[in-house]
Amino acid sequence: MRIILNPNRSAGTINRNIYGHFAEHLGRCIYEGLWVGPDSPIPNENGLRRDVVSALKKLNIPVLRWPGGCFADTYHWRDGVGPVSERKTIVNTNWGGVTEDNRFGTHEFMELCRQLGCEAYFSGNVGSGTVQEFSDWVEYCNMLGVSPMADLRRANGREEPFNVKYWGIGNEAWGCGGNMRPERYADLCMQYSTYLRIYDWDHMIYKIASGANVDDYEWTRKVSEIAGKTIDAVSLHYYTLPNDSWKQKGAATGFTKEQYYSTLFKTLRMKELITEHGRILRSSEPEDRRLGLVVDEWGTWYDVEPGTNPGFLYQQNTMRDALVAALNLNIFNNHCDTVVMANIAQTVNVLQAMVLTEGAKMLLTPTYHVFDMYQGHQGARQVETYAETTLISCGDWSVPDIHVSASEGADGKLLLTAVNLSDTHDAPLEVLSDVIGAKSAVTGTLLTGKPAAHNTFDKPDAVKPVTMTGIKVEDKRFTATLPACSVATFEIARE
Ligand code: AHR
Repeated sequence: MRIILNPNRSAGTINRNIYGHFAEHLGRCIYEGLWVGPDSPIPNENGLRRDVVSALKKLNIPVLRWPGGCFADTYHWRDGVGPVSERKTIVNTNWGGVTEDNRFGTHEFMELCRQLGCEAYFSGNVGSGTVQEFSDWVEYCNMLGVSPMADLRRANGREEPFNVKYWGIGNEAWGCGGNMRPERYADLCMQYSTYLRIYDWDHMIYKIASGANVDDYEWTRKVSEIAGKTIDAVSLHYYTLPNDSWKQKGAATGFTKEQYYSTLFKTLRMKELITEHGRILRSSEPEDRRLGLVVDEWGTWYDVEPGTNPGFLYQQNTMRDALVAALNLNIFNNHCDTVVMANIAQTVNVLQAMVLTEGAKMLLTPTYHVFDMYQGHQGARQVETYAETTLISCGDWSVPDIHVSASEGADGKLLLTAVNLSDTHDAPLEVLSDVIGAKSAVTGTLLTGKPAAHNTFDKPDAVKPVTMTGIKVEDKRFTATLPACSVATFEIARE
């Protein structure tokens, strides 16, 4: 399999925010997964689990979206500030009907972002909130001087503004966020957007409109045409389901060969979605500003683990998920001229998570390892690649055997990330580039296993990255073998 790397051609800089994450008040993501409270026997810093935060910190997460998801359009931020004992209790109607006592709110989330060293992305309530409420939240977070909301923030113990940059104007307004038509949402979006003020010109805010479900191109067209001049970006949600049915999505671990390939095939659809939504955004450029595409929910969605609460969306995570993550990240990298942010759903214990917890125990998923291995792409310059691929077919599904992306870091080193999609065949790679010399240092990291291989609390290291062996470097090329069902990264020093 030949791969050509051409550092002379690039689609641009890979926005760090493509490596963003999403944490909703859903199941055990926030509560148990991230927040245990300051009095918990589980070691914590200001209520946040030390083990989980320290694992996530290693991923260099650029931005974290919160509090939903569907939860966002039922969330009233004032319920979650002030003395914890006085906070209001509500019902989380979207996710299991559980009691939400609001002990994790704006200040606790900002503490999480501080510990992770990431930017906050707040998803505001349009579905059941008011313009005033949303506008007040921005003022509460971002106003430096004297104002009713800044004073309230100070009374709640925070002197300095939080300077939250990213604001989502509702979530899935076509569904759980209000079941609106695009015209109605676009009008509301403009109205809300008008009152999301900038309080400090050194800290601009960035407004993201609630975007389309999968291939609803009409949504993107209407929202960008009508509301485009008041926003910075439009979002897109696309989940990978092995089956075509939301009632029987398919199992996370016990899947067939055909479901393995259907999952990869459906993941690759992300390229078509980005291309088409991106084309629409370009055609409606308001005032010569290009609207960004924010893929703020993506990842696998399976039937929940047997025996767990169906409203909690807890699922295991296998090598198949590692490949899904790697394929999506390769696609985002290669479309960095369109995709300005992406947020995998969700960080802990929900859907395609980085980390799973059970009481005081924690494990890192294969998806976590992919995010770790791909870190070098953050903020790097995308480099064009050409891969000679062969189609693999299984039942109704055909996928290329190899999928790649590449970038060049500020130090001039190239990072090539490659996926072998075959579940049975190793792939001999020949990587060609003018910048490789016989003395170039090429190192690699490999994540591989059977498609259903996964980590458990008893065997947390069953799937983990290893150093790649057998890399042979020559003038203008190197060779290596990608085992079946694997993700590999190659760091290439120019000669
Ligand atoms: O991530 C789970 C849910 O999926 C989100 O709450 C919603 O936005 C989407 O439908």
